Amino acid sequence: MKIWYVGAYGIVSTTAMVGGMLIERNNFQKTGLVSELPYFDGLSKYSPLSFEFGGHEIRRVENAYQATLQHWEANRHFERHLLEEVREGLEKIQAKKGTAINCGSGVQALGELETLESRDLTLSEIVERLEKDLLEFADDDTVVINSASTEPLLNYSEKYHGSLDGFEKMIQDDVKEHASASILYAYVALKNGIPYGNFTPSPGSSIPALKELAVEKKTPHAGNDGKTGETLVKTTLAPMFAYRNLKVIGWMSYNILGDLDGLVLSHSENKESKVISKDKVLEKIYGYSPFSITQIEYFPSLVDNKTAFDFIHFEGFLGTKMKFYFIWDAVDAIVAAPLTIDIARFLLFAKKKGIYGVVRELGFFFKSPMDTNNVNTHSQFEELVKWFVDIF
Ligand SMILES: NC(=O)c1ccc[n+]([C@@H]2O[C@H](COP(=O)([O-])OP(=O)(O)OC[C@H]3O[C@@H](n4cnc5c(N)ncnc54)[C@H](O)[C@@H]3O)[C@@H](O)[C@H]2O)c1
Repeated sequence: MKIWYVGAYGIVSTTAMVGGMLIERNNFQKTGLVSELPYFDGLSKYSPLSFEFGGHEIRRVENAYQATLQHWEANRHFERHLLEEVREGLEKIQAKKGTAINCGSGVQALGELETLESRDLTLSEIVERLEKDLLEFADDDTVVINSASTEPLLNYSEKYHGSLDGFEKMIQDDVKEHASASILYAYVALKNGIPYGNFTPSPGSSIPALKELAVEKKTPHAGNDGKTGETLVKTTLAPMFAYRNLKVIGWMSYNILGDLDGLVLSHSENKESKVISKDKVLEKIYGYSPFSITQIEYFPSLVDNKTAFDFIHFEGFLGTKMKFYFIWDAVDAIVAAPLTIDIARFLLFAKKKGIYGVVRELGFFFKSPMDTNNVNTHSQFEELVKWFVDIF
């Protein structure tokens, strides 16, 4: 299968490419790939573990090998010889120039960017370029995954985002203030019947206009924002308090991270999308809103080693208050990369089974799953397995 990464030179995308190529070459161990659990036996018939990668990018880097090497030098997130084993394949991956329209000051801080809109192209011209790049790569077994940096909240307009006609009018009339990179990439994928997974909190395919397009084109899509670390633990642990009828009074989550993702999120407009995405889950699990603090701070020396400190204050029998603490300390790209492959594989499976529109059952993979309030990891997992078995 083919995976087109938006943000192809990021640490999540490049780590997925390294892992995907190693698995394909020598059946390398598959720890971390949910889709390889025995529950999903037979998936390979629809989405084999054999990959071609491409993508859009806005940072000027020679090829995916150079990009991976830069991340490796900062993080040493796997053994060096693994990178050399797939060097040749990575060198062949040269991302196409993408758009960073309305991606905020955080993305501008990534350094010297090469983007389509910096050449004064209209929205129609940008879309045309993105589409051309994607179609040169894509075949029937292609999925687009958005793993680009997090955008600020969309300047939402019912007129331009509320319907497909309005969206296409926005493009035609070049209304740039209501566009954003992630919705343009999602539009191009769905318009061409290519499944789309949004691993980021950016809007992607979640606006009504693009949901309409996905249904019209009978194309599956899923998002938003990969659930990989602190929120994974939170939505796995939070139900425990509910099952035991314990009342959670307050929950503090304090996240520190470095690397490019941390740098982008150190800009308040980019951070806002992420905090909202992480913060909404407790209300969905409990039906009430405990006092909550969710903070994400840039801590450069940690690079990709994201650390989260959580403090939970809860009340039990006779109104007695008690406390629970946890620390999550993980290499962000290592927990995230395999999930992007899982999402792509399940989306391709969905397409081949004639399933289209938002695939709610893939909510297991996301912090803010589209069109469902189920954020409980346990029932999400059961839902995913049942969905797979029912349609297999
Ligand atoms: N555990 C995780 O790592 C995790 C979990 C959930 C979500 N995410 C999200 O996944 C995304 C990628 O994370 P990462 O750690 O790989 O970040 P990263 O900064 O290493 O990679 C992002 C890449 O996207 C590129 N980019 C930015 N804007 C772009 C655009 N408009 N078009 C094309 N390319 C663009 C950047 O240049 C960079 O190479 C982030 O949005 C992050 O919040 C990551």
